[in-house]
Amino acid sequence: MTDDAPRARHVAIIMDGNGRWAKKRHLPRAMGHQRGVEAVRKLVRGAREFGLEALTIYAFSTENWRRPDEEISDLMALMKRFILSDLDEMADNGIRLKIIGDYRAFASDVVELIEGALARTADNTGTILAVALNYGSHDEIARAAAKAAAKGAVTPEAIEAELDTADLPPLDLLIRTSGEERLSNFLLWQAAYAELIFTEVLWPDFTAEHLGAALETFAQRERRYGGR
Ligand code: IPE
Ligand code: IPE
Ligand code: MG
Repeated sequence: MTDDAPRARHVAIIMDGNGRWAKKRHLPRAMGHQRGVEAVRKLVRGAREFGLEALTIYAFSTENWRRPDEEISDLMALMKRFILSDLDEMADNGIRLKIIGDYRAFASDVVELIEGALARTADNTGTILAVALNYGSHDEIARAAAKAAAKGAVTPEAIEAELDTADLPPLDLLIRTSGEERLSNFLLWQAAYAELIFTEVLWPDFTAEHLGAALETFAQRERRYGGR
């Protein structure tokens, strides 16, 4: 990577493949999600060394409510446990937590934990970890357009200023694991000129080294934004 190669400021990840990871090992899906959380923990530790300003991760989509109740409650339990076990370390490492999506739709104990974590890290100035919870781009854009309309002007700039990501740097790179090549309602607006990388690696196997390799690939890409 040369010195003037573009550096990514904001990377987003669709963390997919927990179920298939577990299935391959004849383990319950919940185990795949648990190992997925461990991959998040390691990645957040590694993200600092890449100098990212923001890392946005897709943890629960507006469509994931279609899953069986048991899987949804496993995911909620894991989220609570993750906050309880990892908040201190993240706070000490300067990470500022942010949520995109309407997390207030979750159960009140989850909402309370999330709000405690947001408050605890609010003054941190290191990497922003934006977690997408009950997030879908269609919902986000509709909410943003309604707010823009209420203020008078429905322009692209006005909508963008109301998106959940308004305070984050522009999205540079979007990665999806597990071999699926679709966006599944994630950051549709923000991805307009993001670089896309799809990898076969299943989420629980994804490491800081994989992120490093993706950033190397990103640095080779030529972004033209419609110009020439
Ligand atoms: C991603 O893994 C985690 C969430 C969507 C919460 P999946 O659970 O979608 O795993 P696959 O796609 O079934 O392998
Ligand atoms: C996208 O993965 C959502 C998250 C990673 C949280 P899904 O597994 O829900 O996406 P589809 O259903 O394969 O498109
Ligand atoms: Mg999936």
